[in-house]
Formats: sequence, structure tokens, C-alpha cells
Amino acid sequence: MNPLAQELNHVLEQKAPSVYRSLSTMGKDLFFPKGILAQSQEAKAKGHKFNATLGIATEEGHPMYLPSIQKFIPDLDPKDVYSYAPAAGKPELRKAWHEKMFLDNPSLKGRTISQPIVTCGITHGLSLIGDLFLDPGDSVILPDKFWGNYKLIYTTRYQSGILTYPLFSNEGHFDLEGFKDHLSRTGKKQKKLVILMNFPNNPTGYTPLPHEAEGIRDILVEQAKKGNDIILVTDDAYFNLFFKDSIKESLFAYTTGLHENILTVKLDGATKEDYVWGFRVGFITFGLGDESQADAVYPALEKKVLGAIRSKLSNAPHLSQTLVLKALESPNYQQERQNKYETLKKRALKVMGVSQREKYQSAWSVYPFNSGYFMCLQLKKVNAEKARQHLLNQYGVGIISVDDTDVRIAFSCVEENQVEELFDIIYQGIMDLS
Ligand SMILES: Cc1ncc(COP(=O)(O)O)c(C=O)c1O
Repeated sequence: MNPLAQELNHVLEQKAPSVYRSLSTMGKDLFFPKGILAQSQEAKAKGHKFNATLGIATEEGHPMYLPSIQKFIPDLDPKDVYSYAPAAGKPELRKAWHEKMFLDNPSLKGRTISQPIVTCGITHGLSLIGDLFLDPGDSVILPDKFWGNYKLIYTTRYQSGILTYPLFSNEGHFDLEGFKDHLSRTGKKQKKLVILMNFPNNPTGYTPLPHEAEGIRDILVEQAKKGNDIILVTDDAYFNLFFKDSIKESLFAYTTGLHENILTVKLDGATKEDYVWGFRVGFITFGLGDESQADAVYPALEKKVLGAIRSKLSNAPHLSQTLVLKALESPNYQQERQNKYETLKKRALKVMGVSQREKYQSAWSVYPFNSGYFMCLQLKKVNAEKARQHLLNQYGVGIISVDDTDVRIAFSCVEENQVEELFDIIYQGIMDLS
């Protein structure tokens, strides 16, 4: 093993033994080399005559560029566009996102969390979790309704298993009992518990109510006290789109700084929150259970993440980081974000009213939803995939079939005044088949 990796492992073993125990084989091996990047940093600071270290081409003191590209972004300084961003991301962006997390999550006040590291979208953050914590044969604990890509990431790429607990109780709320029971049973069989929570949830659009979030927190602490090493990952892709009675903060804010056996990892990003899906700007942030060790542990974890990034993507795109930073710094940012929120909220409330109408009750029941981009219907009479195909072929209406009974509807891309027609057509399609 590289001596730099050994050094990091030593820090983690001493200062955060639970985190050290949870690392995968790759997680233990990872380190950030001191090679070209470190030498370039030194040259940047001291190489005042010539700096012949950079892996880019320069002229007249700035990165070379093609005018046919620059003409579309005339207001941006070429140095903020064309050169590589650091492996951890633009420092100003990391700082701005850190501040934003505290602004958006008042419960974080007083907590010591790591600096966010820029990822290439949240999907990349999800795979960093695999790099750091999952060996073949390990498992990820999820509710029984989850984003399909988790399966590809964790079972196919990382050769880990997926274990599920019921998301909803019979009363249509987060199934605290089911979650507790699942953790307790699984915790007896394996010491490490990698738990992934995604709220607002894809596909259902559910986010726990405040007392449910507190219940989740208490269950995690109880399990940690039993001796399990817990990695709690929050996938906050649809953060901020809370439309009703749910918590309005990330579950990360409820669960960090709780117990030395719980490491909380927040995955979030501008991709969905700031409506820049193709920009691929995400973040990974750590929250230690024992914050007194933050000064030693966060840099060690950061170096492991940087090793994972450097060895796979090298770094995330600079142009989109610059644009997201500009947005965060804009005095109009909050208002613009609020405007989009209001538009999506109106659609969500409309869908809540329309989808539950009496006339549809023979065709489907509606899963609870209060947030996000999506909602799900459980079809009573017809197979979900058959319904999907029929709706597409006969009516030109596209929805997603999630399994045999459930379909997912993305109200994020249906205008408010189209909602009634959409549900009428879905109903008609189901009636045709039943
Ligand atoms: C739950 C969830 N997480 C992550 C992602 C992907 O986010 P990103 O585009 O930032 O990779 C999606 C996208 O559909 C998602 O639904």
C-alpha cells in the first residue's frame, strides 16, 4: 500500500475508528498523490519567472482558447473557463456552497461539517460512496421505492447487494417501525450499515414529516449504540422542493454530529436544485458523529475522495462551476430560485387535487407525496408496463412504469393547465385495457 494511503488510514484509525472500519478495500488504498498537481501548486506560488508546469497551453498570460467558443461567453474570464478546475473543485464555489448549506439548513448551526468537494453531478457522488465504502458482497440499505440507477451503480458497478425496507406504513407515512426492524435485523448480521436516504424521494415524491425525521434520527442513534458502524448517505438531488408538511431541511442536518459510529454524507448539487441538469455540478460533504476530530478526519477523507476523483475523472468541468458560482453570487439568485419553486409547487398542488379525484378511484391509488419532481400511482386493474405502452402508442403520453403495479409521473415537466387532461388520458388508457 502506498505510504500516503497508510498515513491517511492511520489518521482515520486513530481519530475515527468507525469510519476506518467502514472503508472498502479501495477506500483504504486511496490517497492523493503529491506528483504533478502538488508541484504545479508550488510553481504557481513561487515560479515568478517561468511556470512550465501546467498541463494546459497558454498565451499572453491566459489559457489559449478558440474565438469560436469564446464568442458565446464573452463576459467570462478565460481563466475561469478553459483551465482545469482543482480536483476538489473551485475553492470559491466550495465556500459558497458551504455557506448555502447552512443558510438552507438552519439546524446545521453550530455543527462542524467538511468543505463540500465538487463532484460531476450527484451520480458521481453516489459512485464515490461505492469507491470509499463498498466491497463486493457488501450491501446498501434503501426503502423499497428508489431511483433505478442505484441498482446499476451499486449492484452492477460495485457488486454490492441492495436490501430494502418498506418506505410507507399502512397509514401512508414513513414506516419508522419497518425501518427500525430492518436495521435491527441487518445490524445483527453485519457490522457496517450503509444506508442511503433520498428525500424528496424519486420516484414517489415523499419527504418525511418532522416527527418522522426525528424518528429516523433516534433509530440511527439506537443502532449506533448497539455497535454498528453507520454510513448514512443523503441524496438531496431534489432539495428545496418541499411543498407541504414535510421537513424543509436535509435529513443530513438532523443526523450529523450525533454519535461516533455514524458518518453522514450529503450528496447534493446544482443539477436539479438550480435547474442546470447538464452542467454536472454536484457536491459531497461529510458530517462526523464526533466533531471534535474534524480537523484531522475531514482532510484525510478529502484526500481519499480526491484520489478517487483524480483517478477516474481528474476533475469536474470548470465552465459550469464558474456559472454556478456566478449564480450563487448574484443578488437575484434567491428570488429566481423562489420563482421556479412557486411554479413547481403550483403544479404539485394541482396534481395532488386532480389525481385523487373520486372518478379515478377504481383505476388507481395515489402514493403519498409532498415534494420533489414526481408522484406515483398504484394501478388497480392493469399491468403498469402494459398501461405505459398503451398510453404511449394510443395517446402519445409518456409515463414511467416502475414495476408491475406502479407508474411514475413527472409533474416537473407538465404545465399546471395540462394536469387535468393528463390524468384524464391516463384514466382513459387504463379503462381501455381493463
Ligand atoms: C434520486 C436521484 N439522485 C441523483 C440523480 C442524478 O443527479 P445528477 O444529475 O446530479 O447526477 C437523480 C436523477 O434523476 C435522482 O433522481
